[in-house]
Amino acid sequence: MSGRFVTFEGTDKAGKRTQIRILAETLQRRGHQVITVREPGGTLLGERVRNVLMSPDLSGLMTPQAEVFLFSACRSELVRSVIRPALESGKVVLCERFFDSTLAYQGYGRGLDLEWLREIIDYSIDGVIPDLTLLLQVSVSTSYERRARLTSMDSAFRQDIFEQSGESFFSRVEQGFKELAKEEPNRIQVIDGHGSIKEVAQRILETLERCDIGLWFWVWQ
Ligand code: TMP
Repeated sequence: MSGRFVTFEGTDKAGKRTQIRILAETLQRRGHQVITVREPGGTLLGERVRNVLMSPDLSGLMTPQAEVFLFSACRSELVRSVIRPALESGKVVLCERFFDSTLAYQGYGRGLDLEWLREIIDYSIDGVIPDLTLLLQVSVSTSYERRARLTSMDSAFRQDIFEQSGESFFSRVEQGFKELAKEEPNRIQVIDGHGSIKEVAQRILETLERCDIGLWFWVWQ
């Protein structure tokens, strides 16, 4: 496949969405065709299932196994109908969350067997593996502060089932991401998510320069 696939990972409120938008704009300004997608979501089915997964009224009522199957259904749909075709036509795909989130949240966070999860992931991604994963890391306290700020700024800010899961859950998820980065130090690059939006964006560009996935040269052509 001639395109490039970059995923953004990290705990909630690490700044993934903002940084994806900035990187997409940077690449587009240089004439690249870029698509941005998110998980769960990005397809008709995926967005509907996302609403189910994020429903506060299902909080605590869904088994972790059911969560995995729902996330995997979304992923399977997104890979086969959006990501793979885009990569085959030479586009850059920037994806907010991918299978590392399943390993971190359902594996490390909810305690499901990692080998079982990897088997399901293999089936859902159909061989489509990110060229690079940018893991935005902020401390659990920063993540909580950002969430609290959002809640007070926007009274309609909805707390989904994952955001209601508590501090120890998030610590396990964060630890999980760290373990995954240790296991695959080439694919997963850890980015310090503290500081201003501009500072983090600069760190991301420096990381792209350092990692040889062929994207950097495109960036500066
Ligand atoms: P977000 O789009 O606002 O990040 O919300 C998605 C939530 O879903 C987030 O809390 C992480 C969680 N999630 C999982 O638990 N497992 C997964 O495989 C994915 C993709 C997301």
